[in-house]
Formats: sequence, structure tokens, C-alpha cells
Amino acid sequence: MKTLLVGYRAADLFEKGRRGRETTASWLTPDVTCHTLDIYHRHAIEKVHHARAICAPHLPEGPWDVIRFKTGPKRMSGELSLDLLQEIAQRLGGELKPPRFELDFEGKARDRNDLLQKIAADPTRVRDFSATWPSSVPGGPVLTFTSFPGCFCHRRQDEGGLALAEVAARELAGRNVRLLDMGCGCGLVGFLVRSVVPGADLVLVDSHARAVEAANVNARNFGFAAEVILSDNGTPARMDGTFDVFVGNPPYYSDYRIADVFLQTAVRALKPGGVCYTVCKNAAGLEPVQKTYFPTVEIIKRRGYAVLKSVKE
Ligand SMILES: C[S@@+](CC[C@H](N)C(=O)[O-])C[C@H]1O[C@@H](n2cnc3c(N)ncnc32)[C@H](O)[C@@H]1O
Repeated sequence: MKTLLVGYRAADLFEKGRRGRETTASWLTPDVTCHTLDIYHRHAIEKVHHARAICAPHLPEGPWDVIRFKTGPKRMSGELSLDLLQEIAQRLGGELKPPRFELDFEGKARDRNDLLQKIAADPTRVRDFSATWPSSVPGGPVLTFTSFPGCFCHRRQDEGGLALAEVAARELAGRNVRLLDMGCGCGLVGFLVRSVVPGADLVLVDSHARAVEAANVNARNFGFAAEVILSDNGTPARMDGTFDVFVGNPPYYSDYRIADVFLQTAVRALKPGGVCYTVCKNAAGLEPVQKTYFPTVEIIKRRGYAVLKSVKE
């Protein structure tokens, strides 16, 4: 039975064994493939359960005998649920029913039924969930960004990212720099800086496959050369000490654990004298973390955010 799991994380793949001990779920057999959108979750599934996992922006074609989908409002946006459910329906020939389809929904029964109904009402309709929206920095052209559900930010620019782009663009205008945008999302910060810094050589990194997909689409649409890398662990060693500038708008949902990964990468990737810019709502939390990697931190206020600037010694 070739089975595809969609939306599952390592923590979902345990079951209670004898004496209440947690072990890998017995149904996670070698013919099961786990699909993840974030490479971090793929690595965790491989490491913890030694299971087959793939990370890609879209579901693998199959053919699949069974698809199990774990979702709910706390796990992903309604739009991403719908987008993945549409792909599941396509892989299963339009049928979203047991035994070939199982929905593991965390949430209210009404929301579960609404989600299923949206696809079941017209299984042949192919909805396009991509969005386009404008953004620019002072003195630069308006760029029309494309984003997809799951990618940060979908349908709108992030104010923190915009604040970071504006500060970096102002300081770098007219220079030739090699710039690393870590946690690039759809490329908002890196591409806005590039729009006023034509000499910028860009590398973008994100752990989310849909972000990488969107950043590649945007690079192509804007005509900007950029290397876009899928990674949850920074840049490859060959890039160590090669960057003049690092920009990062890390997520703060895990306290400062991910910001720490970003800063470790910054200090490794920058040349001596290279500049690191990060952004957050409240500098008091991030500043001590940044100070463990850089000797000084300058705080620049913009749009209600703090941009933290440091120089590598
Ligand atoms: C707050 S968003 C910023 C996106 C974009 N730079 C902006 O400002 O709109 C943070 C991004 O970091 C990515 N991310 C999270 N953990 C990561 C990691 N370990 N390595 C690389 N990117 C990561 C997320 O997928 C997300 O796209």
C-alpha cells in the first residue's frame, strides 16, 4: 500500500507502546512517504523515525493507494489546507473518501466539513492560490511580488521585512556587495535591496520549499540573478567568509532559537568588516543574542520595528 502522509511532523508519528513507552507508530512502514514543506520537518522525521521523507513545494505525483492529511487551524492557514487538499484530490483522481483518503483534522467538526465541502462541491475546479502584491523602497521601482500559501508573507508584505529592507537599502545604495538574505521568504528583503543596489550579488536561503519556489519566481520576474538555497542550517561551507552583508528577519515563534541559527550563519558567512542586519519588534530580546556573536549592536528604529546592526571584527 503506497501511502503518502501530508502535514505530519515527527512528533505526530509516535504511538504509546507497552508500559506507556512512546515508539515510532507501527503504521509508519517502509512503503509510507512523508511529505513536508519545511526541510526542518523532513530532517526531524528522518532522524527520529528513519522514515522516508521528501520536502518539496508540491505533493509528489505518485501513484498513491492512500493519502493521509493532518491539518487544522493551529497547524496551517485555511488557504494552505485548501491548496494541499486540492493537490490531494488531483493525486487521487477527485475522490476524497476512505479508504483512500483520511483527514486527521485538529479542530471543530464544522471547520473540517467546510474544508472538505469546498473541494467536494466542485472537484474538477482548479483554484489558483498564488497572489501578487506591490512593494518598494524609497528611490526604487515598484516590484510586483508573487507568493504562495505557506510561504511567508503570503498576499502582503511584512512590515518588519520592509523596515529591514529600507534600512539596508539606504545604507548600501550605490555599492557593490555580496548579500545573503537568510529566511528570505518570497525574497522581499533581498530583492528590495537589489532594486536600489544594482551591484548586489544575491544569495537567498529559506527552509520552506514554497518560499524557495516563490523567491525563484520573483528573481525570474524581476530579472535579478540570485542563488536560492533550501536549507535549515545556513549556507554551505564553501560560502563561509564570502559575504559583505547579511540580512535576516527570523521567526520568533520558538523564542530566539531560530534567530540564533540565523546569527551563527551570519558570523560564519560574513567577511571581516561585513555587516549584519536583523529585525524584530522589540530589541530587548534579540540584542543579547546578537551580542553573543558580534561585539557591538546598533539599534535603528523604523516603522515601529528595531533593526539591529553589527559589524564582524
Ligand atoms: C519572518 S519570515 C521572513 C520572510 C522574509 N524575509 C520577509 O521579511 O518577508 C522568516 C522566514 O524564515 C524562514 N526560516 C525559519 N527557520 C529557518 C531556518 N532554520 N533556516 C532558514 N530559514 C528559516 C521561514 O520559512 C520564513 O520564510
